[in-house]
Amino acid sequence: MFANTKTLLQKAQKQGYAIGHFNINNMEIVQGVINAANQTNSPIILAVSEGAIEYAGLNYLLNLAQTAAKNSKVPIAFHLDHGKDLNIIKKCINAGFSSVMFDGSHLPFEQNIKITKQIVQHAHKRGISVEAEIGTIGGAEDKVSSRKIIYTDPKQAKEFVQKTGCDFLAVAIGTSHGPNKFEGPAKLRLDILQEIQKQIKIPLVLHGASGVPNNLVTIAKKYGATLPKVVGVPNDQIKKAIKLGICKINTDTDLRLAFDAGVRKSIQTHPSDIDPRHILAPARDLITQVVTERITTFGSKNKAK
Ligand code: G3H
Ligand code: 13P
Ligand code: ZN
Repeated sequence: MFANTKTLLQKAQKQGYAIGHFNINNMEIVQGVINAANQTNSPIILAVSEGAIEYAGLNYLLNLAQTAAKNSKVPIAFHLDHGKDLNIIKKCINAGFSSVMFDGSHLPFEQNIKITKQIVQHAHKRGISVEAEIGTIGGAEDKVSSRKIIYTDPKQAKEFVQKTGCDFLAVAIGTSHGPNKFEGPAKLRLDILQEIQKQIKIPLVLHGASGVPNNLVTIAKKYGATLPKVVGVPNDQIKKAIKLGICKINTDTDLRLAFDAGVRKSIQTHPSDIDPRHILAPARDLITQVVTERITTFGSKNKAK
């Protein structure tokens, strides 16, 4: 019932656009994302991190995603993001996810190859595709963090893909997780991406790709958020990266920002309204807005068929 992630990404690769991967943690986030996918007629990937599973429970998230898939006219894939715990990865494979990521980026190269290969063999037997990573994305979130960026080495990337048989590869070209992505100019190492694209034929994935849009930062700050030095990946960099083989783009921070801005504004502008539905509905609408903008930038609008 979920769409096949590999099929979605291969089609995107052929046609030169990217599919949005959006991290979900609760019902309002799922609905906000899915509303945007349906309104734009775009395929989409819903993703859960180990932190999301710890927070909400695998079955709750799985059921939310299944309900979304059943009630949508667009293809929806379901993906494990930054899997590190082999037990969780296996549970997700058994639960019928479309794809899982094994994040061995913190491991020595040979060990990353060894474990990725084992997971690929296990997942492929069950028709599930695998995303892997070499190099490190910067930044820190709940369970996903790295002190510094280590750019992906294009030659190592080629060897890694050949030896592991992974289906898509997350590359480190200067992005970071979270809202503080660049200290200097907001630029990706597109030169490295171009070299990687020459070496590798499978779809490439960009993590830490949120745009951190000004309109959301302004609302969140106006209603009390402290967000110093926030900067996202500019849309022109995203579009160039898509031209160089990026087919899957991960977004979590922009959804957090939309949620935060919506909730803060509701609470402060209607202090006597304690109905959670009234507090959360505007946050859900802001998520729909930001996801619609992402989908437009990625070029996946009207690619549902
Ligand atoms: O890349 C990481 C995702 O944004 C998930 O972060 O571990 O805080 O859920 P999390
Ligand atoms: P952002 O923090 O830029 O949204 O990146 C999310 C991500 O890479 C999830 O895997
Ligand atoms: Zn990530």
